[in-house]
Amino acid sequence: MNGIKLKGMGRCVPEKIVTNQSLAEIVDTSDEWITSRTGIQRRRHCTAETHTSLCADAARAALARSGVTPDQIGACIVATVTSNTLVPSAACLLQRELGLPTDIPCFDLNAACTGFLFALHTMECLLNASPRKFGLVVGCEVLSRLINWEDRSTCILFGDGAGAAVVECRAGWPSIGAVLGTRGDDELLRVPGVETGPRNFISMEGTKVFKFAVEIVPWCMDWVLQKAGITVDDVDFFVFHQANARIIDLVVRKYRIPPEKYYKNIAEYGNTSAASIPLVLSELQDLGRIGPGSRILAVGFGGGLTWGGALVEFA
Ligand SMILES: CC(C)(COP(=O)(O)OP(=O)(O)OC[C@H]1O[C@@H](n2cnc3c(N)ncnc32)[C@H](O)[C@@H]1OP(=O)(O)O)[C@@H](O)C(=O)NCCC(=O)NCCS
Repeated sequence: MNGIKLKGMGRCVPEKIVTNQSLAEIVDTSDEWITSRTGIQRRRHCTAETHTSLCADAARAALARSGVTPDQIGACIVATVTSNTLVPSAACLLQRELGLPTDIPCFDLNAACTGFLFALHTMECLLNASPRKFGLVVGCEVLSRLINWEDRSTCILFGDGAGAAVVECRAGWPSIGAVLGTRGDDELLRVPGVETGPRNFISMEGTKVFKFAVEIVPWCMDWVLQKAGITVDDVDFFVFHQANARIIDLVVRKYRIPPEKYYKNIAEYGNTSAASIPLVLSELQDLGRIGPGSRILAVGFGGGLTWGGALVEFA
């Protein structure tokens, strides 16, 4: 199978900044508790923005950054659990918004916070079978709509945003070597669907999810490295799902990863689920900390339960 590489990243976050202090005015919490337990200081919540506008703005930025035009796109996947409508899917609305070709598959993918990595792997498979060799992968969430403001252990965690990648598939490029896993569990992390009507709140067993995360992230890393036949030292940059700064800190300590080889933006955005990994990639590309030649190991985990890792490079 021919591999894909990232051609260009883009992102969009809502304007409204919600600080820990402002949350402490509506729920029984404090800036000190949130910062020390999670690393989160602020998050963005949509007001005027919509799921579609976040997706479209992030995707337009990625297209501009990559120099690819909408008519060159061979498939479009939106990783999300918060699309505005179930039908049409977010990807269908994005097809219309961007004027993507009508003879390509555009669809949503739900793998919670691992969605972007599931989508990258799916895109690699799709582009191998497509005459058009560029693909659009978006991670977008409006999690503020799912917040239970009576649950202080979850309402502080989540934020809104979108990150997008234009990827290219070329003969001779190595596969991203994605490792993906799934284990059905509706107790640790749950967002009810149509079964329960309008009160679709996130509920989570935080401590159990934390434990799951610190076990599964190293497992994914080891699996990716083993599959590629490389070691931690061969990796130029590590990109982790931003769920809790303490999870990232534990992992980088375990692998002795130096500060210049990983990045945290959770203080600014909180947990943005499927948007978290592409938001990090987009910021890092703008900062010039990753680019052509960088070998990046990306790792995610989330509800489902789902988990995964991949080696991504820029074209
Ligand atoms: C949610 C999370 C921050 C909670 O931190 P924790 O250290 O596990 O805290 P606990 O849930 O054990 O709660 C400890 C205490 O803090 C309290 N608490 C919970 N949320 C609080 C808040 N926002 N402010 C103040 N106190 C809070 C609890 O009520 C509990 O009090 P008690 O001991 O009197 O009962 C943490 O478990 C976590 O980040 N889990 C992983 C979440 C995750 O990654 N989710 C996304 C997966 S993609």
